[in-house]
Amino acid sequence: DWTPAAFIGETVARIKAQVGNNKVVMALSGGVDSTVAAMLINRAIGDNLYCIFVDNGLLRKDEFQQVLDGYKHLGLNTQGIDAHERFYRELAGVSDPEKKRKIIGRLFIEVFHEEGVKIKDVNFLGQGTIYPDVIESMSVHGPSATIKSHHNVGGLPEIMNLSLVEPLRALFKDEVRRVGRELGIDEIFIGRHPFPGPGLGIRILGAVEESKVKMLQEADAIYIQHLRDSGWYHKVWQAGAILLPVQSVGVMGDERTYEFTCALRAVTSVDGMTADWSHLPYDLLAKISNDIINKVRGINRVVYDISSKPPATIEWE
Ligand code: XMP
Repeated sequence: DWTPAAFIGETVARIKAQVGNNKVVMALSGGVDSTVAAMLINRAIGDNLYCIFVDNGLLRKDEFQQVLDGYKHLGLNTQGIDAHERFYRELAGVSDPEKKRKIIGRLFIEVFHEEGVKIKDVNFLGQGTIYPDVIESMSVHGPSATIKSHHNVGGLPEIMNLSLVEPLRALFKDEVRRVGRELGIDEIFIGRHPFPGPGLGIRILGAVEESKVKMLQEADAIYIQHLRDSGWYHKVWQAGAILLPVQSVGVMGDERTYEFTCALRAVTSVDGMTADWSHLPYDLLAKISNDIINKVRGINRVVYDISSKPPATIEWE
């Protein structure tokens, strides 16, 4: 019978045998998969695992620092790289979703490569690939292959001439979570909603600007905090705020406003392939809407997305 403890024992031994005294470099994302994979590799080879966590400027509010602190706390040898200005510069004026994804993916590889080569004598690349990723990358007609280009580090092993270390390749997400808990990883990592690689870059419809990132980060943080406080965070599979390129008229005091619209998305799902919109209580939606409109300058209207997947996707871009 499969147990997390047995899996950890076997996997750590296998990594030791594969890597020996060599070094492994790995990109962390703050997500469950890369965190659990890194912890397994760290158990096997300690500080010979070099983790890199890139701030692309498109993470949630305060997430870069919080996640970096979390990694340090877990004992992972992690370097945080603040590259946000570079991402904003290259994204300036680009509004096509697929172009934005490509730019974000390319820059990520560039930054990771630049940092990776500074570590001498690395032979291996660690990755948090899980079984559904393996299946998806094999199917030519997989939904994300045809509908959206996926943001991953494809090409990196070849560019850097590295062999892969992928301890989670045979696991499903729920098994990854069980292994993570067995390894003592905090619920902050284990219970975290999925978050797309291109981050807020695909939740700001149209061109990404720093001021819009700030606006969306504030609205999103208020939204997520309300979900946590009300106990809804763990009932939904994924949630986030989206900043629309739509301005509309409002009133504030005696003033007429003409400001942006924020859409809220929350879905229930098993694997992200299909999803239903979450039936959040009206009272909760009312509080969230009031809070966002009162506290976030630049947003004067909040709408709730009641579309299911298919035919709508979870993300808006
Ligand atoms: P969609 O929008 O296709 O999203 O219904 C399904 C799941 O995939 C995530 N997603 C992405 N993840 N890079 C990622 O790493 C991407 O480009 C990307 N696009 C969508 C999305 O957040 C949801 O969990």
